[in-house]
Amino acid sequence: MNIIILSRGPNLYSTKSLCAAAKRKGHQVKVVDHTGCNLFMEKGKLEISYKGEYLREVDAIIPRIGSSVTFQGAAVIQHFELMKVFTVARSYALLQARDKLRCLQKLASYGIDVPRSVFIGQGQDIEELINEVGGFPVIIKITESTHGAGVLLADTYSSASGIIEALHRLKEKVMLQEFVEEAAGTDLRVLVVAGQVVAAMKREAMEGEFRSNLHRGAQAKIEEITAREKELAVKACRIMGLDVAGVDLLRSSRGPLVLEVNASPGLEGIETTTGVDVAGKIIDFIERKKQ
Ligand SMILES: Nc1ncnc2c1ncn2[C@@H]1O[C@H](COP(=O)(O)OP(=O)(O)O)[C@@H](O)[C@H]1O
Ligand SMILES: [Mg+2]
Repeated sequence: MNIIILSRGPNLYSTKSLCAAAKRKGHQVKVVDHTGCNLFMEKGKLEISYKGEYLREVDAIIPRIGSSVTFQGAAVIQHFELMKVFTVARSYALLQARDKLRCLQKLASYGIDVPRSVFIGQGQDIEELINEVGGFPVIIKITESTHGAGVLLADTYSSASGIIEALHRLKEKVMLQEFVEEAAGTDLRVLVVAGQVVAAMKREAMEGEFRSNLHRGAQAKIEEITAREKELAVKACRIMGLDVAGVDLLRSSRGPLVLEVNASPGLEGIETTTGVDVAGKIIDFIERKKQ
């Protein structure tokens, strides 16, 4: 098969791992920077060019879209979709997963357990909203946060209102969320490929930090997860329309909660921690789809 990996970083671990897995399984693979793609449209005909060449006879694409270029990434994926090229992540699913508000709206409406959350309207009494999601300390979250960079914890009304005011002034979309204290700075990252859990790890935040992102220095360990956790992760992916995703779960006193579903999950942490060839499983999935 001819596989294209949409990625801005040919030297990133995930891109290299996918390239290696595709080659090992006998496929042609090319890394294309989606921000450099030209998208042509005319009656009944779509084309994509990249570095002076048309991208034709492509069997499948594997999008690895960074959060700063979601719009361009989704546009390129949609172009491929309309050209009948199989994509591991559909454009609508990527856009929906990227926005924590849209993601939680969808999951909650399908009966998935999520932390109690509220998207704040203009000029609202935030004290009342904070009480509704469980009081202090409260999580304040930018809906497009990644790597934990837009997730804060506020202990008092004055800090919460100051943070929210500042974020609103910066035109950020802000959510309040119940702080799941009993998770104690840990979460689970569950990798799902084609409706199956293929790998799982537990991430533990650094001392004095509640965010367990590996980018914030958290430690990862291989972890056995329960049947209920597996089922929840698989269901969340199905609802979000994602065949490949990294689901973040928090272990709360009322059971596992889905925090978010990542449409371009990093492979380095999960592959090196668990020893599972996740990239290989993604290529196997494409092979099954293209049979
Ligand atoms: N409601 C919450 N309760 C407890 N911890 C949380 C909560 N929300 C986020 N965290 C911690 O912060 C980390 C980052 O939050 P997340 O919503 O995944 O944002 P990002 O997309 O920036 O990673 C999580 O992995 C988790 O450790
Ligand atoms: Mg996260």
